[in-house]
This record gives sequence, structure tokens and C-alpha cells, in this order.
Amino acid sequence: MTDEPDMDPREYYDEFGEREWERLDRDPVTRMEFENTTDYLAEHLPDAETRAVRVLDAGGGAGRYALWLAEQGYDVTLADLSAEQVRIAREKAAERGVGERVTAEQADLRELPFESDRFDAVCCLGGPLSHVVDADERATAMAELRRVATSQAPVFVSVIGRFAMLRDILKSNLDDAHGLLAPITADGDYTAERVAEHADGEGWAECHGFRADEFERELEAAGFEVETLVGLENVANRMKRELEAADEEAVADVREVVRTLREDRTAVDFSEHMLAVCRA
Ligand SMILES: C[S@@+](CC[C@H](N)C(=O)[O-])C[C@H]1O[C@@H](n2cnc3c(N)ncnc32)[C@H](O)[C@@H]1O
Repeated sequence: MTDEPDMDPREYYDEFGEREWERLDRDPVTRMEFENTTDYLAEHLPDAETRAVRVLDAGGGAGRYALWLAEQGYDVTLADLSAEQVRIAREKAAERGVGERVTAEQADLRELPFESDRFDAVCCLGGPLSHVVDADERATAMAELRRVATSQAPVFVSVIGRFAMLRDILKSNLDDAHGLLAPITADGDYTAERVAEHADGEGWAECHGFRADEFERELEAAGFEVETLVGLENVANRMKRELEAADEEAVADVREVVRTLREDRTAVDFSEHMLAVCRA
């Protein structure tokens, strides 16, 4: 029997280190994920000019969103499973001169160390909930996000899309990994057990790839009101190489099309990351 690869999210992100900080500014497609997300944050977050607004960035990683939020005037608490990501986030916040606005600590989404109703807004962006593969544990994590938010607070959650995950397998090492396609199509779970059984080599961190309807259902079951679903990369999915080679005008046209299509349900389902804008 093949040994299971180590795909534990905490260890994966400890090792991933600074690459997580670079992720959202790595290429035109990851920049679209960031820009489209911050568009919705800017539209729905409470105004920080008239009063102090406390925002939780859960699964905040190296702090790209936390720092952006702090720069907009929010008081940010970043919580992440990985001690190394928390260290990087603290370092980046100090370097960017917003250290006083950002508190970063190690914490698990499934048991957040904060009192109920503590935050005026909650973010969980770039897929942290996808790394909670067990459905019951994910329901607990979603309930935790809601518990720590004040009533009616805006809550922003983005996860990994199942179709994009399947395309990654198709595009990477198909001969070695094609056995993963059928089970992941059925339930979205990319686990160490399955990688050991159906694929050669190392796996990425364990994760669950969502369908749009399923994502909405799980959020509603946790008590959220889902206002909008957004396909953050949609037609630009996995077009990194093509867009890096394209001129600025062409990339601007693609960004515009992605913006136009981003709330289209098919575009949501097909995206690498889908964002839900909710109310607690
Ligand atoms: C792809 S990164 C996204 C980081 C950041 N939000 C962003 O968009 O750049 C996913 C993050 O989720 C964190 N994570 C995974 N499972 C978690 C859990 N159960 N509790 C808290 N954080 C978790 C990982 O440590 C990692 O930093």
C-alpha cells in the first residue's frame, strides 16, 4: 500500500511561507482575484471614517487582505492556523506602517478564540474554508464565523471551485492523477487518502472544491443570508501565461469582461475562487 502524502493544511502553509504573501500579486489572474474581492469589500463594509470598525480576517494567511483593510482605516484581527503565516503577517504589517491596526494570532476556524458578536465585519478569503474538508467540521467553522459577527454584519467568504480543481488535475499530471477525477467530480474532496490511492507524487494541501449551489446551501444552513455570489476569475481562470504575455490593453479588456461576468451563475461555478457576500 502507498504511504499517504502529508497534506495537512497547517504544515503546508508553514512551509509555503512567503509564497503565500506573493500569491495575490503574482500574475494578472491572482490580481483579478484580489481586485474583484476588494471591490465587494469596499462596497459593503461599514464606513470606518465615522467610528472604529472591527474586522476579523479569518484564515488571513500572510495578510494581503488584512493590510489592505488596515490601510482603509479598519481595526483588523487576523487569525490563521499557520504560525509561519501569522509571523509573516505581523512582519508585513509593521513594514507597511499599519502594525498598530493589525493584531495577528494563531487560531483554528473551527474554534475561534473570540467572544460572540465581537466583529463588525468578517472575512474568510482565498479558500480557508475549503481546507476544512470534513462537512460537519466545515459547518462548525461557518457557524463560528457567524457567531463572532454582530447581527447583520457583512461577511465575505471565498472558497475554491470544484470545476477549476478538476481542470487543475486535467492540466497538471493527467497520466498520474486521472483516477482522482471521478471521486472529486462526485463530492469535491481532495484528500491525502485519495491522492495516495489514485495519484503519484505529492499533493497540495487537502481541500474541498465547491459547486456554487452547494456553497450557497451550506452558508444558508449556517444561518447566513447570501446576498451575492461572485466568480472572481471566471473566464480568465488559469490564463496566467497568456495574460502575462499579453499587452496592457488586452489585459484591461479581459479584466473588464471578468467584471461584467462575475455575478453570472455559470461564471461563479467555473471560477477558481467563488466569493459569497453575506449577512450574519
Ligand atoms: C490560500 S490561503 C489564503 C490566505 C489569505 N486569506 C489570502 O487570501 O491571501 C489559506 C489560508 O487558510 C489557512 N487555514 C487553513 N485551514 C484553516 C483553519 N482550519 N483555521 C484557520 N486557518 C486555516 C491556511 O493556514 C492559509 O493561510
